[in-house]
Parts: sequence; C-alpha cells; structure tokens
Amino acid sequence: MAWLPLTPSCGRMVNCFAMDLDIASSSAIPGLVIRTAQDNEARACRMLLPEMFTAFQAPDVLVATVADPARNGTSRIVGGAGVGTTLGPKRSLPTLVHVVPSWRRRGVGRNLIEAVAARSCGRADTICPPRPVPAASQAALFLMACGFDQWDRIIHFEVDGLPFYADVLRVRRRLEQHGRIPPEMRILRLRDADPDAVTDLVCRCIETSHQHVRARFNSRADDVYDLENSVVLMMRDVVAGVLIYTWNGGIPMIEVRAVDPALRGGWANAVMLEEATRNAKEAGALRFRFFASDKLNDTMSLARRANAEQMKVELQFGRGLAG
Ligand SMILES: CC(C)(COP(=O)(O)OP(=O)(O)OC[C@H]1O[C@@H](n2cnc3c(N)ncnc32)[C@H](O)[C@@H]1OP(=O)(O)O)[C@@H](O)C(=O)NCCC(=O)NCCS
Repeated sequence: MAWLPLTPSCGRMVNCFAMDLDIASSSAIPGLVIRTAQDNEARACRMLLPEMFTAFQAPDVLVATVADPARNGTSRIVGGAGVGTTLGPKRSLPTLVHVVPSWRRRGVGRNLIEAVAARSCGRADTICPPRPVPAASQAALFLMACGFDQWDRIIHFEVDGLPFYADVLRVRRRLEQHGRIPPEMRILRLRDADPDAVTDLVCRCIETSHQHVRARFNSRADDVYDLENSVVLMMRDVVAGVLIYTWNGGIPMIEVRAVDPALRGGWANAVMLEEATRNAKEAGALRFRFFASDKLNDTMSLARRANAEQMKVELQFGRGLAG
C-alpha cells in the first residue's frame, strides 16, 4: 500500500558537482549557458526549486542563464536544476528542473536535463524526479519528451471509513478463525516503539534514507507522523512491520506501510491495517486515504471491495544514464 511519498534515497551520498567548473552552452538558444550555480545563484534557485531544499538535503544546483539585454555584461537566470546528493531506487539521483514561465517551451528545460544527465554519468545509473508527477500534466509530458520512462503508476484513493473498516475487520477475523495469527505477535502504538528500530525496518523495506525517516519523525510540519494511531508490529521483541498515518484536513492517510519480507503475503499486513484503522476511527476519522502502485494487487482489490473513490493518479518517471 502506501509508502511512496518518502523521498527515494537509500543513504549513499554522492557529490556530483562540487568540482565541476565546466560551462556548457547551447547553440539552439542564443546566449543560453548552463553551469554550476554560484552561491548567490543557488540562493535564487532555491526559490525555483523549494522542494529540493530540505532539512536533510542541500542539492547540487545547475543554473540556466541568458545575457540580459538591459544590462550589458550581465546575465539573468531563466531556470535551474536541483540534483539530490543521495542515491535512491535504481541508483537514481533525484532531479528537479524549473524554468521561469516566460522562458518555457524554448528548450531550456531539455538542456538542463541533458546537462544533469551528462554530469551524473558514472555517479548514478538513473535520474528521477523526487516525487511522482500528476498523470497527463505538463511535467509528465516534459519528462516523456526528455527520454524518461514511466517506472510506476500510483493511484490515490479516498474511502468511507465504515465499509473500509468493516472489510479489514472481516479479513482479520477470518485469519483468526483459521489460526493464522501467531500468538507471539504484539501490536504497539508508534509512540511506544523504538524509533531507531522502526527506521531500520522502513529503510530495509523501502528505498529511503535513515535521515529522511528520522527527519519525518522529528518534523514539526503539519503532516507529521501520527504517533498515537500509527502501529508497529512486534515479533518476539523485534520490529516486524509498521503502518504510519499522517493527517490532512481531518482525514488520516497511510503514508508508510512496511512489512518484514519474511511475513509478507500473509496475516501481518491485515492485522496492522485493522488495528491502525480502528485507532484512527476511534480518533474520529470518518474517511481514509491511501495510495499504492497499481502493481499492488492486494491494495487494488481492497480499494475495489471498499468502493474507494479514485482521487488522482501520479506517475513516477526515471531515465537511465549511459556510460
Ligand atoms: C516542465 C518544465 C521544466 C519544462 O521546461 P521548458 O523549458 O518549457 O521545456 P522544453 O522547452 O525544454 O520542452 C521540452 C519538451 O517537453 C515537452 N513539453 C514541455 N512543456 C510542455 C507543456 N507545457 N505541454 C506539453 N509538452 C511540453 C515538449 O515535448 C517539449 O518539446 P517541444 O517544445 O519541442 O514540443 C517547465 O514547464 C517548468 O518549470 N514547470 C514547473 C516545474 C516542473 O513541473 N518541473 C518538471 C519536473 S522535473
């Protein structure tokens, strides 16, 4: 089910651009120069690429400039690219491009992507946007035009709490009747679990970094992990599963679901889902949100059975790097 918003990164730090002083220029757009941003330019690019600058990541930044006709000898920024420094799934570098609106559809974005790709060769196998983009959006069209492949299709659902809980409870009861749930399993609230052990499991199951998960634990933003209603599955005092909610507008959303590989495809997920859903329902939730890759058949059939409403579809893209 739901774990994709975690920024994809698995803890391998790479420094792509620190020594890179090359100036790449494009003849297709007169005067366009793409190069490593200087400090003041990187600060400006931060406005263009806010998602790339977080408490746990300062990206490498490329800037696209053109000569400023109004001021001889000076240039103006027309776009930027931020490249994360931590490798994610498929040995990818998270890459985000932004072009100022008045300079769009002239090839600036494509040139920025090509510059990132050229400079990332040998340091990573792929580049990918840090988050999935809406299907059929300008960003999706741009990425496809720039040689990115669709890696995943993620569907976001919202569901009425009563039929949803009734369904997960029915599944749990059936497992209990068949004696499938081992007596030694225990469910803890997230606040009572060891955050390091939870972080370890999440990072083992999902390609994300310890830094990112710990930053989410410590976040003071609105969408913090719900420590009270999220649950942790323990097997003989070892963390074996975790289901984490965040809340948005009074509706809980399952942000992370991770189960130890040895317990997948059985009772573990169903038990966590029932417990966490009951907690959130008792905390006042009338509806639930979750999302998943359309390759996850169990989640797709859960959504069908609970008559879940499809809210949006997002696509994860990635592009291989030659060499
Ligand atoms: C997406 C974005 C970076 C594109 O920048 P750009 O400089 O306009 O892109 P380019 O001119 O290099 O376009 C390259 C190709 O992408 C496609 N494309 C780009 N923008 C498009 C749009 N709005 N609609 C349809 N196709 C588009 C086209 O095929 C285009 O080639 P063409 O103009 O020869 O038809 C820019 O619109 C932007 O900054 N958007 C906000 C941030 C964002 O969505 N970033 C993308 C995630 S990495």
